[in-house]
Amino acid sequence: MPSPVALPGISKIVAIGSGKGGVGKTTVAVNLAIALSKLGQRVGLVDADLYGPNVPLMMGSSESPRMDGNERIIPNETYGVKTISVGYLSPGDKPLVWRGPMLHQVIRQFLQDVNWGELDYLLIDLPPGTGDVVISLVQTVPLTGAVIVSTPSDVALQDARKALEMFAQVNVEVLGIVENMSHFTCPHCHQEIDIFSRGGAERTAHRFNVPFLGSVELIPAIREGGDSGKPVALAGPEDPQAAEFYAMAERLMKNANAAAATTSGVIEII
Ligand SMILES: Nc1ncnc2c1ncn2[C@@H]1O[C@H](COP(=O)(O)OP(=O)(O)O)[C@@H](O)[C@H]1O
Ligand SMILES: [Mg+2]
Repeated sequence: MPSPVALPGISKIVAIGSGKGGVGKTTVAVNLAIALSKLGQRVGLVDADLYGPNVPLMMGSSESPRMDGNERIIPNETYGVKTISVGYLSPGDKPLVWRGPMLHQVIRQFLQDVNWGELDYLLIDLPPGTGDVVISLVQTVPLTGAVIVSTPSDVALQDARKALEMFAQVNVEVLGIVENMSHFTCPHCHQEIDIFSRGGAERTAHRFNVPFLGSVELIPAIREGGDSGKPVALAGPEDPQAAEFYAMAERLMKNANAAAATTSGVIEII
């Protein structure tokens, strides 16, 4: 197995995953990326979901990236966040089915052949499941850690636990679990409705002894922000619908700093 090699100029690499699709990984990834950027961090975001690349739509970014003078890809930049995605390639330039070696090659290219410049955080929006992309990632670069997104429903949590086991198996520290679509507040009667149940992700975090990053409500504005390419986090930390993403970004920074401190200690020993 090839040894992972740190990317020069990039301080921390954090993967965002789940067991399941549709639980809000990309939504959390883009809003965390924007929140980190507004909190003064230099941020990049890799769309590692080759079959369902949603980062371009959610980040309002669609240009085909150009090459710099050294044949390195220049990432797109919107809202202060640099992004790369297979969604930026024209349909003729990408296959419909990614064979294992091609998939590995694309992930490697997105990390090593992109001119990211200096970054405090490179976030990786993972595809659903516990598969090949994570293996490619951990073979290519040392990860600071991972964030797991889940809804509080038992089926989603069952898959989130698989993701926890997978990260443990590949020695990636889980920096936090996010409970997404935690509950819905009826705009008419203001009653809180637990559509996917509630609190399960936090309980899972405690049970497996990993940090809990926070819960995000099911809010139409979050879906609209994604669909329109203007994620809610753009409204800033004072906005009630965006505030939780900023609180989660602060907790993530704290946990990532602690993890980076231990990881660099390990590297020194080696
Ligand atoms: N907290 C939320 N409130 C409302 N809609 C949400 C929320 N989180 C995600 N969504 C919507 O749910 C759908 C799936 O989210 P997405 O981020 O694409 O999930 P994944 O990346 O895990 O497949 C998207 O349409 C997104 O806008
Ligand atoms: Mg996604």
